[in-house]
Amino acid sequence: MCGIVGYIGWQEASPLLLKGLKRLEYRGYDSAGIALLNGSTLTVMKQKGSVSGLEKDTLVLRASMQGATAGIGHTRWATHGEPSDRNAHPHLNAAGDIAIIHNGIIENYSALKQELVSEGYQFLSATDSEVLVHLIDWIWKQDPLLDLESATRSALRHVEGAYGLCVVSSREPDKIVVARKGSPLVIGIGLGEFFIASDAAPIVEHTKKVVYLADGELAVVRRGGYCVKSIENIEQQKTVTELDFTLEKIEKGGFEHFMLKEIFEQPEVVHDVMRGRVRLDEGWLRLGGIADYLDRLKQAKRIVICACGTSWHAALLGEYLIEEFARIPVEVDYASEFRYRNPLVGVEDVVIVISQSGETADTLAALRTAKEKGAMVMGICNVVGSTIARETVCGMYTHAGPEIGVASTKAFTAQVAMLYMLALSLSKGRTMSDSEITLHLRELSEIPEKVARILELDSQIKLIAERFKDAKNFLYLGRGFNFPVALEGALKLKEISYIHAEGYPAAEMKHGPIALIDEDMPVIILATRDNTYAKILSNIEEVRSRKGRVIAIASEGDTEVSRLTEEVIYIPQASGPITPLLTVVPLQLLAYHIATLRGCNVDRPRNLAKSVTVE
Ligand code: F6R
Repeated sequence: MCGIVGYIGWQEASPLLLKGLKRLEYRGYDSAGIALLNGSTLTVMKQKGSVSGLEKDTLVLRASMQGATAGIGHTRWATHGEPSDRNAHPHLNAAGDIAIIHNGIIENYSALKQELVSEGYQFLSATDSEVLVHLIDWIWKQDPLLDLESATRSALRHVEGAYGLCVVSSREPDKIVVARKGSPLVIGIGLGEFFIASDAAPIVEHTKKVVYLADGELAVVRRGGYCVKSIENIEQQKTVTELDFTLEKIEKGGFEHFMLKEIFEQPEVVHDVMRGRVRLDEGWLRLGGIADYLDRLKQAKRIVICACGTSWHAALLGEYLIEEFARIPVEVDYASEFRYRNPLVGVEDVVIVISQSGETADTLAALRTAKEKGAMVMGICNVVGSTIARETVCGMYTHAGPEIGVASTKAFTAQVAMLYMLALSLSKGRTMSDSEITLHLRELSEIPEKVARILELDSQIKLIAERFKDAKNFLYLGRGFNFPVALEGALKLKEISYIHAEGYPAAEMKHGPIALIDEDMPVIILATRDNTYAKILSNIEEVRSRKGRVIAIASEGDTEVSRLTEEVIYIPQASGPITPLLTVVPLQLLAYHIATLRGCNVDRPRNLAKSVTVE
């Protein structure tokens, strides 16, 4: 989710690159850097922090930067290696004559790094990206007759994973080499000048004519023109597209709101969580961040999971998953309660803290409390290098990319997918055979496609939202794995639409909330086909007989539910433990549409902040 810009032409490159990076800061904002080509001089400036910080600090260097009319720039959202000056891009080779910027994840970076280290290469950063510059350097050294383009092409043949890549070299200062696989890149076509970016946001103010690179393509961009080839070196005919977007639309990927964009990113997010951690062909699962602590985790007397809000709902699913798969006792606590209630935790326990931002004050305090009491503390965070990520002994990043909408959507999905993999890891060699684990991983790998199918129901869900948008209250009911999803659905609705909503375990309804049910009470019931299905049908009957209006989320092919309910949203079939990754999606969309139809600002709901750093 980092941002990439490049420029080659006749104008001063540095102000253009810095302005372009500012347009991309919504993609990542923990560090920034530029590399400038001025004749045969290559200058790199990079540092932790915002683009404005970099701009201020480069002011003093402006004179030395003058005359550079080509360069590349990067704003980073850390995936490997915490935000720091040395981890910021561009990365240089030892001779300082090749610079790269990279967006994506190099899955086999560790194997490549080992080989390069054995060839005498020294790594200055903790990123996966740095491997690319040394690999290009090494390949070029093996055959000095190569050029930058062919050295880059050969290097990429060794790379597994995703990349949007720009490479420059002072040995060939008249060009920028760019390549794409799984991470977007656009070339903007001006008059005697070309712009490169990870999306059109920094380009649109300079030119409306763009060429989108496809996966597996590599281009050489010069002042006089550009040439796109396949990675196999076959020239490609590209169509020039005319942009008709506003800047704001581009930042939001064409969506009305960041929240909607983030909901629609979920297929990719689940894919990214698995990237480099799962290989289906071999039934291989490796959670690098906790690999050295896995035995300790498996031996835990008890696991306690602490979090707040949506992350707490993911934690509840963590409890269900770990107990179901690994048979280790799990307790879930609100971080704010845990820290003040003198909890019984000790050296035999493992405490897992879950936080998208990695900065939530209560979660951080729970982490410190657990540490003081001697427990081993592990983290699941989205923001790399965040305080929680730094203070935990080990942990895993969810790699969901920056979540800008205040209401958490894709971060939740990533957390649940991560917990699913954690539960499977804990089961390995204890409660599950390798083939059973492979079956579960296979189901996880099918989730992106299934979520994509649910996203196609967006207009149906919007129609339902129109019918129910004026309701004063909503009840969300689910059982088993769908109970935490009911809580999450209710939270989404209340925080962005300001409608009162409650989530309940469906069977608890008769112990109180049933008194609320009348013809004005919409009840969302998660009625997917699992071991609680028959019971859920009885709950639907209970609501119906009190004139409640039922909206069901049901499994495709289920005709029984549609006979009993006013509305049904059908989702692809899946087994119980993995179902939350599907059932949550229609609930996010329903909340989104109800809130926008009521005129609410879904990206910035009143009274809420993205990161709650106060108690
Ligand atoms: C709800 C939401 C919040 C957060 C909570 C914890 O949509 O976003 O409930 O989940 O504030 O935040 P993190 O995960 O950053 O610790």
